[in-house]
Amino acid sequence: MSNSVSVANENGVAIVTIDNPPVNALSFHVREPLMQALVALRDDAEVAAIVLACAGRTFVAGADITEFGKPVQQPDLRAVVALLETIAKPTVAAIHGTALGGGLELALGCHFRVANTGARLGLPEVKLGLLPGGGGTVRLPRLVGAVKALRIIVSGTPVGAQEAHGAGLVDAVFEGDLTAHAVNFAREIARKGGPFTPVRDRDDLLKETDLATFDAEVVDLARKARGLEAPIACAQAVRNAVTLPFDDALAAERALFVTLVASDQSRAQRHLFFAEREAAKLPGKDTPKRRIGRVGVIGAGTMGGGIAMAFANGGFAVTLLETSQEALQRGLGMIEKNYTVSVARGSLSEDAKRDRLAQFKGSTDYADLADCDLIIEAVFEDMAVKKEVFGKLDAIARPGVILATNTSYLDINEIAASVSRPQDVLGLHFFSPANVMKLLEIVRAEKTAPDALATVVDLARRVGKVAVVVGVCHGFVGNRMLAARGSESEALLLEGATPGQIDKAFTDFGWPMGPFQMGDLAGLDIGWRNRKARGLTAVISDTLCEQGRFGQKSGRGFYLYEAGARAGVPDPEVEALIREKAAERGIEPRAIGADEIIERTLYPLINEGAKILEEKIAARASDIDVVWVNGYGFPIGKGGPMFWAGLEGAAKIIERLEYWHQRTGKDVFKPAPLLKRMAETGSWDGSAAA
Ligand code: 3HC
Ligand code: NAI
Repeated sequence: MSNSVSVANENGVAIVTIDNPPVNALSFHVREPLMQALVALRDDAEVAAIVLACAGRTFVAGADITEFGKPVQQPDLRAVVALLETIAKPTVAAIHGTALGGGLELALGCHFRVANTGARLGLPEVKLGLLPGGGGTVRLPRLVGAVKALRIIVSGTPVGAQEAHGAGLVDAVFEGDLTAHAVNFAREIARKGGPFTPVRDRDDLLKETDLATFDAEVVDLARKARGLEAPIACAQAVRNAVTLPFDDALAAERALFVTLVASDQSRAQRHLFFAEREAAKLPGKDTPKRRIGRVGVIGAGTMGGGIAMAFANGGFAVTLLETSQEALQRGLGMIEKNYTVSVARGSLSEDAKRDRLAQFKGSTDYADLADCDLIIEAVFEDMAVKKEVFGKLDAIARPGVILATNTSYLDINEIAASVSRPQDVLGLHFFSPANVMKLLEIVRAEKTAPDALATVVDLARRVGKVAVVVGVCHGFVGNRMLAARGSESEALLLEGATPGQIDKAFTDFGWPMGPFQMGDLAGLDIGWRNRKARGLTAVISDTLCEQGRFGQKSGRGFYLYEAGARAGVPDPEVEALIREKAAERGIEPRAIGADEIIERTLYPLINEGAKILEEKIAARASDIDVVWVNGYGFPIGKGGPMFWAGLEGAAKIIERLEYWHQRTGKDVFKPAPLLKRMAETGSWDGSAAA
């Protein structure tokens, strides 16, 4: 018995309870007493059956991730599961909350699994750059079949109790007191008598595997893996379960796990797991929160509509305000259309669509926002328009209402100063499409009250967003760094790289798309208008826009798009235009390699991140990684730009930045002092310094 594991006996059925808050991870201080308890119960003639349950909010949510990369303390999870399988009396896992990773693998060591209706079961290791390393790839296929197991393991997405029951993973689903039901279940099974077959010996389903179907799925997932090693290793391990004897497949799984856990990709993905949780933490944990019932959204355009949907999806009542009935109806119509698409895709039921739509109230009268607790404006990106809107809000909103702007670039301190309650003003910078994209930059202005900030951080989580608190500067963290990344794009074109070569260097690096593909998708006119407003030029992009080439929406941008096509093809006209503009400037085209493309785009991105840290616009380097992975598609296997800088080596980055600074004189290449400190200490906060 220990604090982490306790045993009770209910008339011959032993209940082993794991209690390791917050998520019952299988730390060494759980495994050791668990092993001892199981050995004792195996040999105890008074015990007819064993129920394995958990205290607190969930069944075991996995191995203890903080132990990875350290020497393994025995017994490891595999030893505990192996021991479970030597027990002749029936063993039953009672699952509530989430049985994830090592948690599900532990349950797979039992003869039976029962769950309550709300339970979810999954093997999310792939999201940490790993594969299930406690026998999951070898045992799950024996219960649900190889193809279903492949899908569960490679997606990392948990399945609900009912689906798990239907698939054969769970033997019974109960409502009400799960432990009581599990004890009755175990007693009844024990009464009927054995022998009870451990999962490792159930081969029937495996024999039915159609390897051709299996391999076809693997080809498809390898294409989607975009350089990630873990999904491929997962597939290999599940295939081994079909083709190799159990013990050989188990050993192969272990070997793959050991390789992956030491890989940079897994380190990067584990870094992101903790980074996302860290980003949501504010100093002053117990800051009171304001109550948010109804949310107001001003402007039903691209962003306003998406923001309104994000809140409605999170269960909030929403008042959507526009300048005219026509604009309002257009916005509401777009929202309805989006929900209709979700219904058609099967991700939303008709009833849910009706319920969501019932949460919206449209208006053209600011007085209708008077009962809102949070009001977010998403009107045109123009300081005068924003101030006019905030002036109206100041007049009608109740005291204590949080007033937020979705501005991409404007000075939120200036907006806050224009109202009588700057303490209630902050930025909520959503990303497009706002109902889909996970990232939310929460912009803390100079006078934002701590409880207003704490309230929106909490709210972000409730509507499924990954929140990062940032300070005020032009473009905040994401767009400011994006500008640094893009500063050399045109120069690279003029010097001889094609849009296709640059985009390919990006996709080979692991990005979902390159900068020109992204520009064409978002609309080149957005940047064009922005540049014009700031007196800036970009000769190629500006010329394309002058020719009406705005990207996908006009069928032509940096690429050509066949009617309705989303993938562009290279356009000789664009390449001729680039050569013409280069010749006008006396630039002789030369071959430019992928390495040069990466260092002239991504090194300035990192350098800007370092400046952002110096200015305390972001609190931690890992916050910047969270922004770039969730908002801009930075490859997860590289952990975000600041983590990747560590892999790449700060000294190398500085050397190349200095080289390009000398050649171009551009500020983006001037190494930030913090980057130099990173080169000396090996960490962004200097914590690794001797
Ligand atoms: N190990 C160590 N710490 C963990 C952990 C784990 N497996 N899972 C969660 N935590 C920590 C979090 O870091 C957080 O710590 P903090 O409060 O100090 O920031 C705390 O537990 C609470 O976590 P969340 O904020 O994420 O809590 P939620 O209630 O939102 O979510 C959860 C709960 C769904 C269980 C979520 O935490 C989760 O998805 N956890 C990871 C699950 C996972 O990946 N399991 C597989 C691990 S790898 C493995 O098992 C390998 C095996 O095959 C050998
Ligand atoms: P949009 O042009 O699609 O929508 C703006 C809407 O605001 C229009 O429907 C307009 O009728 C309405 N509007 C204008 N003045 C108004 C007023 N006084 N009262 C009520 N409604 C008014 O613009 P979009 O793209 O939605 O941008 C809105 C804001 O979001 C801008 O500040 C923009 O910088 C920001 N943003 C945009 C992103 C994008 O990808 N489009 C991403 C993140 C932020």
